[in-house]
Amino acid sequence: MNLKYRKTIIAGNWKMNKTLTETKAFAEAIKPNLGRHKWCEVVLCVPGVNIAGAVKAFKDTRVSIGGETCHYEASGAYTGEVTAEMLKDVGAKYVIIGHSERRQYYNETDFTVNKKVKAALEAGLKPIVCVGESLEQRELGVTEELISYQVKTALSGLNENQVRRVVIAYEPIWAIGTGKTATAGQAGEVCTHIRSIIRKQFGARVARAVTIQYGGSMNAKNARELLAQPDIDGGLIGGASLKPDDFVAIINAANQ
Ligand code: PGA
Repeated sequence: MNLKYRKTIIAGNWKMNKTLTETKAFAEAIKPNLGRHKWCEVVLCVPGVNIAGAVKAFKDTRVSIGGETCHYEASGAYTGEVTAEMLKDVGAKYVIIGHSERRQYYNETDFTVNKKVKAALEAGLKPIVCVGESLEQRELGVTEELISYQVKTALSGLNENQVRRVVIAYEPIWAIGTGKTATAGQAGEVCTHIRSIIRKQFGARVARAVTIQYGGSMNAKNARELLAQPDIDGGLIGGASLKPDDFVAIINAANQ
């Protein structure tokens, strides 16, 4: 973390979990314990159908609500999809773009990620752009090249002010939902690499302002060590964000 230059953001990714009733119960459970998150921003990305309800449930707290994906077009014949503006209109502030599960199951590519990032920014949302390598790619030794490609493509065509509003989440695919966390050293190294790519493309001032998260089995136990890395500015948390006590513990780890 580097509190001088950029925000620390702890974001939950609920994926396809929790009904609105469960969302309200979660809000009531964490509200009394949220008082101390002074330095970090807290976000919960929830299923699209529950965004409006979640915004209401977390109304008097500092928790912002986000979507988990959006379409890149502004409107049209795309049955089942939602636009970035629709998310914004019901109160979302963030949207996850290009999560590895979207890439794997819904054919998202680096090109659609780029289009979605632009659509999100256009609508006034902050995109949380996910990048990360598979175990095979790590073992082949191509992690840095792959991450460079993903980050460059995702940010292609943006100006400096837009890049400042983007959050990058480094999520090694082999660490997602597996209980197998990257070591703080491994995660920190890739996050430093991501910042260097942004520096080369958009300059040092922009690079030091961008929040870069780590995601992949982050939990109450390992959060502090991961967040101690200078280029890890928060987390994108799946499993552990579903449990109020674990999520609060991670928020507290970011405020040490
Ligand atoms: P996990 O998920 O924390 O359950 O590994 C992270 C994510 O998919 O964003």
